[in-house]
Amino acid sequence: MQENFDVIVIGGGPGGYVCAIRSAQLGFKTACVESRKTLGGTCLNVGCIPSKSLLNLSEIYHKAQTEFNNLGIEANSIKLNLSKMMNNKDRSVLTLTKGVEYLFKKNKIAYLRGYGSITSKNTVTVVDESKKKSHYQTENIVISTGSIPVSLPKIKIDEKIIVSSTGALSFSKVPKKLIIIGGGYIGLEMGSVWKRLGSEVTVVEFLDHIIPGMDGDISNEFLKILKKQGIDFELNSKVNAVAQVKGQAIVSFTNNKSAKIERVQADKVLVAVGRKPNIDGLNLTKMGIEKDNQGRIQINKKFQTKFENIYAIGDVIPGPMLAHKAEDEGIAVAEIIAGQSGHVNYKVIPAVIYTHPEVACVGKTEEELKKEKIEYKVGKFPFLANSRAKVNNETEGFVKIIANKKSDKVLGAHMIGPQVGTMIAEVALAMEFGASSEDIARTCHAHPTHTEAIKEAALAVDKRSIHY
Ligand code: NAI
Repeated sequence: MQENFDVIVIGGGPGGYVCAIRSAQLGFKTACVESRKTLGGTCLNVGCIPSKSLLNLSEIYHKAQTEFNNLGIEANSIKLNLSKMMNNKDRSVLTLTKGVEYLFKKNKIAYLRGYGSITSKNTVTVVDESKKKSHYQTENIVISTGSIPVSLPKIKIDEKIIVSSTGALSFSKVPKKLIIIGGGYIGLEMGSVWKRLGSEVTVVEFLDHIIPGMDGDISNEFLKILKKQGIDFELNSKVNAVAQVKGQAIVSFTNNKSAKIERVQADKVLVAVGRKPNIDGLNLTKMGIEKDNQGRIQINKKFQTKFENIYAIGDVIPGPMLAHKAEDEGIAVAEIIAGQSGHVNYKVIPAVIYTHPEVACVGKTEEELKKEKIEYKVGKFPFLANSRAKVNNETEGFVKIIANKKSDKVLGAHMIGPQVGTMIAEVALAMEFGASSEDIARTCHAHPTHTEAIKEAALAVDKRSIHY
């Protein structure tokens, strides 16, 4: 038996490492177990961070190719050096994962390298690379092992021709034709990257719209914009199989309406049909820790499993699979262990899609409010009428604010346009403070900024927008 701890966090992703840091700040002797070679989980290593690097770099490349000339910037022979672009992405990832390691040292958190499992209510067993087993005693355990991509029946991801997001972040050359199964977050972000770098991209989506759960107005506008960018969509289409013939993939899908079966050939296929909790190997079944019918760990309001000292956070429990949601849960659990009243406000979790333009939302959609029979009013303001967007030649999209019809309390905000991934924080903060649309409208916003579109949308809730 090795060292004893107050808190052992299993999983060093955004949920786990943040929970470990907060636990250490609160005076607990803390350890974090991680099986990957570097800290940061899916988000830092093969998710949010590398994809945002490629989104940014591919956007610069695309702009240089298509817009510079018109803007008076004459740069001849703009060429793509994909391996340099990939190196830049890898360097960003490395810097950030090393940054988390530094934070562990700074906070005196023990970094236990290896695969963790729960072998008793108070024991975490870690198997390291050389298969050596170590057992650690702990007062509290936090499960934060994240999620893994799911595939479809009979479709095997080989990360060469049929890839998950991990493979799609590291193609060694630009695929001539890329088919993406699933018009969700991953599909549209990675589709944007490869389209800009020169691939022919087709997204095959089961539903009749993209990004399920998103406000309908935004989803429609987003689809229009992506089509204009040259991405093809096969909506209402269920993928049945992907065959591999001579290094090419053949994707067959059925149109849900016409029952017509189509077959399309591609160099690469990205399967982006969702993710599932990564909990196999944790010994949960033997421990009697229960899961729901979607394989998520069952917890109470304090994130406790059936053992009051074993908690679960992030993608392994219900709720959106988002890094920032996991981070907030990590902080809440550390505070709960310390006897404080840590909690997460699930009504105010922003979500962002980092395409160009960006998409961002927080709170209720119109569709949800209709279902819940809550009366509301809507204010909308287009970026076409925002001076900053106009001078930057980025006028696509709009800001939409939804407020309660009687109280005027802001219930949600949905945006598509330049910078909205950053702008959404303003409305999230307003909602946390229970603000009304009037409160936002009466807050002085700097001119000329994109954020004025939020103020104008808030004014539009009562039909008094100034610039539109
Ligand atoms: P998703 O749940 O966002 O989208 C999956 C899509 O696949 C859905 O539209 C679904 O209707 C479709 N689909 C399912 N079966 C299909 C079939 N047989 N044929 C055609 N289409 C089918 O899942 P995604 O994009 O894989 O992302 C996984 C998770 O990662 C999400 O929960 C997301 O929140 C998170 N994520 C977040 C990002 C962000 O915050 N910007 C970026 C990337 C991922």
